[in-house]
Amino acid sequence: MNNKNKYIEIPGRGKYNTKNKLNNLTGKEWIKFTKSWFIHTPRRRKENEILHPAKYPESLVEEFISFFSKEGDWIFDPFLGTGSALIAAGNMGRNGIGIELMKKYFDTAKKRIDEKNFESEIIPVLGNSLKLKSLLKKYLGEKEIDYVITSPPYWNQLERNNIRQKSRKENGLDTRYSKKKEDIGNIKEYDDFIEKQAQIFDEIFDIIKPGGYLTIITNNVYFNSRLYPLAFDTAVSLTKRGEKSWTLKDEKIWLQNDKPLLPLGVNNAWVGNRHHQYCLIFRKEV
Ligand SMILES: C[S@@+](CC[C@H](N)C(=O)[O-])C[C@H]1O[C@@H](n2cnc3c(N)ncnc32)[C@H](O)[C@@H]1O
Repeated sequence: MNNKNKYIEIPGRGKYNTKNKLNNLTGKEWIKFTKSWFIHTPRRRKENEILHPAKYPESLVEEFISFFSKEGDWIFDPFLGTGSALIAAGNMGRNGIGIELMKKYFDTAKKRIDEKNFESEIIPVLGNSLKLKSLLKKYLGEKEIDYVITSPPYWNQLERNNIRQKSRKENGLDTRYSKKKEDIGNIKEYDDFIEKQAQIFDEIFDIIKPGGYLTIITNNVYFNSRLYPLAFDTAVSLTKRGEKSWTLKDEKIWLQNDKPLLPLGVNNAWVGNRHHQYCLIFRKEV
């Protein structure tokens, strides 16, 4: 194809370059997504909707999937929870596979996916992501993953964040994912958590295509009167894995402008209202 006719005008969206290597977006849409922060306000949960304590909104995942993959690509989420990443993948015409340790969340994910009747292949798997390569082999064979988006447990936050726990309990949400030892949210020591989490991303390094992107949604966490820089340590730890080192490309900050301000530390000492999350962007560059 010559340079002259490589652009297709898409009504209301702008010009799409048929030589676009990464996604199906127009130039205008591409540029819009590159801003380093965004405000995303998902609609409020309805009563008894989905009782997972840390579900991320499908609409947010859809935006990342649109940027980092093309239709027909394979998307993977190693911490599937109630299946948001796979619902988003199906909605966007991508194939998807995800692993969840807890039967209860897996069952919810499966039910939600079955109800959708997607045309693409969407596969929730019950299991432990520390063994993800052998788990996925059965479904993928020699196929490679094109893009990974996930939100791991925020270390021990679910169990230990007291004020937020109270409101989680009041809303009928779990205050821990499970008591299972394979649940990485149950790891006691912070450094052990960082290492185990990195081991899961080592496995992913082996099954994603060269040049494939990984987005991790996580945060720094406040515990025992100090900040643990979980998001920053996640970013650094994945870049120091020898042959399996990811290249850190950027961060996008999700501003949560709809969270209520809690009276933390008032008249006593600094405790922040943390109303943002980090979406860390890595790439397999070899
Ligand atoms: C932050 S939540 C993910 C929520 C998900 N993004 C959603 O929208 O529902 C983390 C999930 O990781 C799961 N998990 C923890 N350790 C795991 C492991 N070793 N293998 C697979 N899943 C695990 C937990 O049960 C929990 O559902």
